[in-house]
Amino acid sequence: MMALFSKKSAELSQERPAFDVLPEHIGIIMDGNGRWAKKRGLPRSAGHKQGSETFRTIAKECGRLGIKHATFYAFSTENWKRPKEEVEALMRLFKEYLLEAKEDITAADNNKIRFVGIKEGLPDDILALVEEAEEDTKNNTGCDIAVAVNYGGRQEIVCAVNKLIADGKTQITEDDISNNLFTVPDCDLIIRPSGEQRLSNFLLWQAAYSEFWYSDVLWPDFTVNDLYSALFEFEKRNRRFGG
Ligand code: FPP
Repeated sequence: MMALFSKKSAELSQERPAFDVLPEHIGIIMDGNGRWAKKRGLPRSAGHKQGSETFRTIAKECGRLGIKHATFYAFSTENWKRPKEEVEALMRLFKEYLLEAKEDITAADNNKIRFVGIKEGLPDDILALVEEAEEDTKNNTGCDIAVAVNYGGRQEIVCAVNKLIADGKTQITEDDISNNLFTVPDCDLIIRPSGEQRLSNFLLWQAAYSEFWYSDVLWPDFTVNDLYSALFEFEKRNRRFGG
């Protein structure tokens, strides 16, 4: 009841609510850009453009709320199958973001930026900007914002195992895999807008005990109030971790 009241007042006054419990690691599947554009008779790239604005707003808000890690699913290992123009539009948006990220996200909010996923296959100019952004922000103490690009959860686990084999391991433990993932090993809350209720190869290992929150809103229309709704719901969940 209290949470409902706080949420309403936050919506009315636009103040930032105080949460009793925050997820340490939040994962967001940014879905619905294509449908958002189609509804408006626009090309899919327009949906991605608007989606990238939403990403910036929500990433900053995660930092301001004090969330330690936020992983945003931006491009899967399967997304290369999309039409060339759409892939190019997405790569342009990643580049634009990386070019502006320093001022936009890191200087103002002291957040850390990382691109997580398979680096092979990404254009060289993007890789160079990724390296620069990661280096520039590595000592920041705000939110660790991980953008999952050319990412697949199964592939992430395979990469971890291959690394362990290369290190000479012949027997592995759960901790070995956890310590060799691209992101932190446990995700507390996964948010998926746009009405789909599946994981789509996102944070497979990390989602073992994640809470899920779904919504029909399309990602370009997702607002900080939607984020607050997910967080209020998270606060109410009774997490037992199998116990
Ligand atoms: C899924 O929606 C979304 C994507 C494959 C791309 C997500 C990328 C962005 C939001 C841009 C991110 C930008 C930065 C700077 C990180 P969809 O296209 O599958 O939508 P649909 O299911 O409605 O067709």
